[in-house]
Amino acid sequence: MHQNDGRQPGNAPGNGDGDPDERYRRSNALLVDEVLGFLFAAALRAAAEVGVADHLAKGPGTPADLAAATGTDARNLYRLLRLLATRGLVAEDESGRFALTEAGQALRSDVPYSARAAILMLSDRTFWLPAGELTRCLTEGGSAFDEIFGMPFFDHFARDARTAAVFHDGMAAMSDAENAILAAGYDFPSTGTVVDIGGGHGGLLLEVLRRNPALSGVLYDRPHVLAGHRLGTAPEVEGRWSLTEGDFFEAVPPGDVHLLKRITHDWDDDQCATVLGHCRRALHPGGRVLILDAVVPRGNAPHQSKALDLLMMVSLTGRERTEEDFAELLAKSGLRLSRIIPTPTVLSVVEAVPA
Ligand SMILES: C[S@@+](CC[C@H](N)C(=O)[O-])C[C@H]1O[C@@H](n2cnc3c(N)ncnc32)[C@H](O)[C@@H]1O
Repeated sequence: MHQNDGRQPGNAPGNGDGDPDERYRRSNALLVDEVLGFLFAAALRAAAEVGVADHLAKGPGTPADLAAATGTDARNLYRLLRLLATRGLVAEDESGRFALTEAGQALRSDVPYSARAAILMLSDRTFWLPAGELTRCLTEGGSAFDEIFGMPFFDHFARDARTAAVFHDGMAAMSDAENAILAAGYDFPSTGTVVDIGGGHGGLLLEVLRRNPALSGVLYDRPHVLAGHRLGTAPEVEGRWSLTEGDFFEAVPPGDVHLLKRITHDWDDDQCATVLGHCRRALHPGGRVLILDAVVPRGNAPHQSKALDLLMMVSLTGRERTEEDFAELLAKSGLRLSRIIPTPTVLSVVEAVPA
């Protein structure tokens, strides 16, 4: 048995008794595999961009068939599909034809809960380029976005309709899969007004109004975002919603429930306290604020919030928060954390009332 020479890596495979050189070789292989992980994200993005999954939906195809249908290079498309197959999104059969698996379905653009727009948003250069500068965030603090793009994150996405669509369509695609679950996961008051602050295209508000037929709702966001709202698509909520354009750092509309879904994670504590302070002042008596965001769990277990937190670090001023972080932030904003309700999604409902 070899003595631990002090160089033993913590969780390397084969850790424990054995040849130390072998342990370091395994650790090396593990880390090389980990760092190559970004290429899987790049492949997923390229597959989403060229729309290969929509063609696979018609049935299995050879790389040559799929390349002809997508206007891509057959050899390179094969190489990309071969990597996607290693994680079960497509599968190659004996004859060299690829099929879309169950796990790959959400890569299509024409299915309910398609993830395609979310993949394009989360791997967009607005996250990808700043992520490449993460070391700078460590050494200098702050984010890398403004220096690369010459303006803050949300100003960039207000520049033109095409740029805005990348973020807001992607955000809506990410939210679609969780909105109905979140609306069902909280006992809303039976009457009154729900204001969805920074509500994007209104997917969450739509689900809340659907489930609560005596509630009315206000969708509050920037004008260019409200232009893409979809509240008008559901006859059952007709006459119960309105749109309000504005800046939540200036004011928010009055209401009985203020929803803030994936808003607080975008901003630092002082910025959040400004928005939450407006909420406190605009709440009707007996009202409440519901923050729908991840609550970062303690410990080493994986949780999506731990990765998203780095996106917030590199491209925005915000961060994902723990329960203690939320309690502190709310206290700073004249609110009190009343309870946290976990949901089957990665988000929790953080309920707050005036202190
Ligand atoms: C991360 S997205 C969340 C959208 C939506 N709540 C969801 O979960 O899908 C942040 C939202 O905040 C909006 N927003 C950003 N700055 C704002 C401001 N100053 N005033 C109002 N809305 C703003 C954005 O337009 C965007 O819709």
